[in-house]
Amino acid sequence: MSQLVSPSLLSANFGNLKEDLDMINASAADWLHIDIMDGVFVPNISFGPPVLKYVAELCNKPLDVHLMVVNPMNYLEPVKALGARVMNIHYEAEVHLHRAVMQIKEAGMMAGVTLNPSTPVCMLKDIVADLDLVLLMSVNPGFGGQKFIAHTVNKVRELRELITATGSKALIEVDGGVNVETGRLLAEAGSDVLVAGNAVFKADSPADVISALRAL
Ligand code: DX5
Ligand code: ZN
Repeated sequence: MSQLVSPSLLSANFGNLKEDLDMINASAADWLHIDIMDGVFVPNISFGPPVLKYVAELCNKPLDVHLMVVNPMNYLEPVKALGARVMNIHYEAEVHLHRAVMQIKEAGMMAGVTLNPSTPVCMLKDIVADLDLVLLMSVNPGFGGQKFIAHTVNKVRELRELITATGSKALIEVDGGVNVETGRLLAEAGSDVLVAGNAVFKADSPADVISALRAL
């Protein structure tokens, strides 16, 4: 068993982004996780396309974009223009999920659907076979450095069963409060991709934490 690791830029040092991106580039990280917020879907604002244009230029890892915004499909073109590998939209933010997923795939990106902690996995039953990825939130979205919600481990197990039962190829990604300890529980339950913000960027040796998470 091993995990893909997607360090979350939200916990990077914005006073010296170049240094943190150089660290990511030299590390074993698989993707770079990018949290876009609008202050409406979540009570916080992070960064938008003008900043991300430079991040995309400086980062040699595929971008894993997590949109915490209302009307996420308004961002299809800007996210595509960044050259993102994955576009994650929230289940709770998109009424026409099937159409949105098809449009993301037609744009050449992996289509990911994200569930808030209170949204049950079974809501994905009729769409999971069309997805490239499901992102389970293990904190309420909007902020880095929050405590891991332990019930997420059960959701990973349930989602793994749903994926197997439907013949879906979707990857299971988990975001929020992930460190080597909680990551081990998630990996044992069947996750594929771990997002980690504080656990990576606030560590003495971020590259070692990335490698430790990959080995779970
Ligand atoms: C939270 C974001 C996360 C966040 C994770 O809304 O979606 O990606 O950066 O940060 P940690 O790993 O510190 O919980
Ligand atoms: Zn995120």
